Amino acid sequence: MHPSTTIGPRGLPISYQIRDITVSPAVVLAPMEGVTNITFRRLIRELGGPGLTCTEFIPSEGLRAGNKVSKLAEFDPDERPVSVQIFGRRPAGMAEAARIIEDMGADICDINMGCPSKRVCARSGGSALMKEPRLAADIVAAVRAAISIPLTVKMRSGFDATNRNAPELAWMCQEEGAEAIAIHWRTRDDRYGGQRQVDKIAEAVQRVSVPVIGNGDVIDVPSAVAMLQQTGCDGVMVGRGAMRNPWSLLQIAQHLRGEDVVSVTADERRRALLAFLSRFHATFRHERAALGRFKQIAKHFTADLPDGEVFRKLLLRSATIDEVIGHTEDYFSTWSPDELMPLSSPSAAQQAPAGSPQKASRSSSPPGAAAC
Ligand SMILES: Cc1cc2nc3c(=O)[nH]c(=O)nc-3n(C[C@H](O)[C@H](O)[C@H](O)COP(=O)(O)O)c2cc1C
Repeated sequence: MHPSTTIGPRGLPISYQIRDITVSPAVVLAPMEGVTNITFRRLIRELGGPGLTCTEFIPSEGLRAGNKVSKLAEFDPDERPVSVQIFGRRPAGMAEAARIIEDMGADICDINMGCPSKRVCARSGGSALMKEPRLAADIVAAVRAAISIPLTVKMRSGFDATNRNAPELAWMCQEEGAEAIAIHWRTRDDRYGGQRQVDKIAEAVQRVSVPVIGNGDVIDVPSAVAMLQQTGCDGVMVGRGAMRNPWSLLQIAQHLRGEDVVSVTADERRRALLAFLSRFHATFRHERAALGRFKQIAKHFTADLPDGEVFRKLLLRSATIDEVIGHTEDYFSTWSPDELMPLSSPSAAQQAPAGSPQKASRSSSPPGAAAC
């Protein structure tokens, strides 16, 4: 654990430092392409919980101030600290992109070395960089030289089972100037399946002197605690869990601070689901675009609801916003508004030693994970 990381009343980290930036609580909203747009991040921040938010990945080659791609790097004036993630394979192109996002006012520049998608790997960005550690380190060095804001890297535990080199690569990135490293326990080959193995996160914690953030199937308090205890990492990063239970980051943060964890009523869930819909409609304007974004969230959101499977199908089949609203009102009408709905079902993060593999609870290709 990093010396500047603050330990809370439960003996778990409550905040960590990336240079002069305090990430408090030590809970990060993961970058997710097509999901963590400004609207989604705003809603999660309104519910509470993240100590740091991150944009979805942005192709370095397409990033030019004012163009369509640069819209992906937008954030709210009060969204601080915020990290903007870039990907690419050319050190000079990555440096140029980093300069642009620094000029846009980002607090942190994050480099993607974790995306398994063919589109990204074909250009040797994302997790393909884990196979080319020297190039990966050169990218970090070039970006470091180009910007003065903090620089972080997000990676997987390795490219495949025979190349689980995250600790080594994390160290190389640190030596070239990376100031925190987030590690998803899966390899690129695992995509979204695989056997849960957080040993490489634990090794990286021992190997580097910058904060390490643990990622992968952190969806609730027990899975967050397991990640922190099994690896000694400085903070956790939550991705799909934020779609499944948008309060999960808040609940984890509350637990870390030693507070009681909020329970969520049926009416709060109903309002949150409809808020995603209406905000996406306002942002993306076209009904189809808004519905597409909404359905991606709804697939995960309904996983936690009693009889959620039937509700999920109805939502996914809906062709209009009015239909979605109708199904949502119908579903929640069977609950009294103040009734507490169950929290996330138990996660895959059992209290096992860091190295022991365990079958992950997720399928190998979860809904919505087409890209990353
Ligand atoms: C729909 C989707 C899009 C993603 N896009 C990105 C991305 O843009 N950049 C990135 O570094 N990781 C991306 N990821 C990976 C997540 O950040 C995270 O590492 C992964 O989902 C594991 O965490 P989780 O189990 O909490 O979801 C994406 C994941 C999903 C499901």
